[in-house]
Amino acid sequence: MSSLSVDTSNQKVAADKSSKTFCIIGDPVEHSFSPLMHNAAFKYLNLNYSYIAFKVKVNELKESVESLRDINVAGFNVTIPHKVEITRYIDRLSDEASLAGAVNTVKNENGIFVGYNTDIYGLMAPIEERLPDFECIEILILGAGGSSRAALVGLSRKKNIKSVFVVNRDKQKLSKIIELGNTLGLNCVPMEYADDEKLSQISTRCKLIINTTSVGLANEKSLLSSDSIHSESIVFDIVYKPIMTNLLECARSAHAKVIFGYEMLLNQGYKSFEIWTGLKAPQEVMRKALLGIFGEPR
Ligand code: ATR
Repeated sequence: MSSLSVDTSNQKVAADKSSKTFCIIGDPVEHSFSPLMHNAAFKYLNLNYSYIAFKVKVNELKESVESLRDINVAGFNVTIPHKVEITRYIDRLSDEASLAGAVNTVKNENGIFVGYNTDIYGLMAPIEERLPDFECIEILILGAGGSSRAALVGLSRKKNIKSVFVVNRDKQKLSKIIELGNTLGLNCVPMEYADDEKLSQISTRCKLIINTTSVGLANEKSLLSSDSIHSESIVFDIVYKPIMTNLLECARSAHAKVIFGYEMLLNQGYKSFEIWTGLKAPQEVMRKALLGIFGEPR
């Protein structure tokens, strides 16, 4: 697929006066701040576009995508639990989405639903800010869903990572993702939550820990305790609500660095916006719309 061309002039008055509808589909989706972020950007650029959230249950995906075709939706985001399953119901995949086997952004290109994966950028941008060198490091990923797949694609572009450990409840999903990681050239190792002593031992060795599960969204206790986190580590929780999840609290009490989930939300959002509109995302506007709700994190 040809690379994306974006108009970087960031014109305040958009030429496109037509109305377009965008949305996010997922379950749960009520917590999503994507509507807030994208609507702020549309308004700032005088685009007559709107973005809404639709709850789509796990067994309703196929019909929901057909309904989105019927209403000629301009584009949509896909979140938990549909990022992998959605690949069956759209028409084409970008190279990155195809590599990951997961999609978080769909664009309606003249009736053709094209799937993209902007989670890869969303995850990697904040990691790269804190971690300039991946040489010989060990990494732990919690979860084996679509976001975990995106993380593996992003990490596979880094040279000489020693190992990427992945832990997941569902064994089938775990073995598939290990296969993906190894195919991408990583040294991917499966782990089990049940073997908590080994998990804790490995976890304390890992320079980077990424939670790609939804655990934390309902204020649950994190899957790792602070005893399993080294002070020199970086802990990234993709859950962005609450902003300070229990995992990030554990990381802070272990004196580790944290990466907040909103950082991924913003970065993947900038890229989705650019794919849909061909315009440079007004990053400060989107950031302010989001952090206005959270307040600046300390
Ligand atoms: P997405 O595609 O958005 O990543 P997903 O495919 O539903 O969403 O993935 C969610 C991940 O969170 C999965 O790895 C899931 O684990 P299972 O595959 O074992 O179901 C993980 N997850 C959700 N709730 C969890 C929990 N309570 N404990 C551990 N993992 C959990």
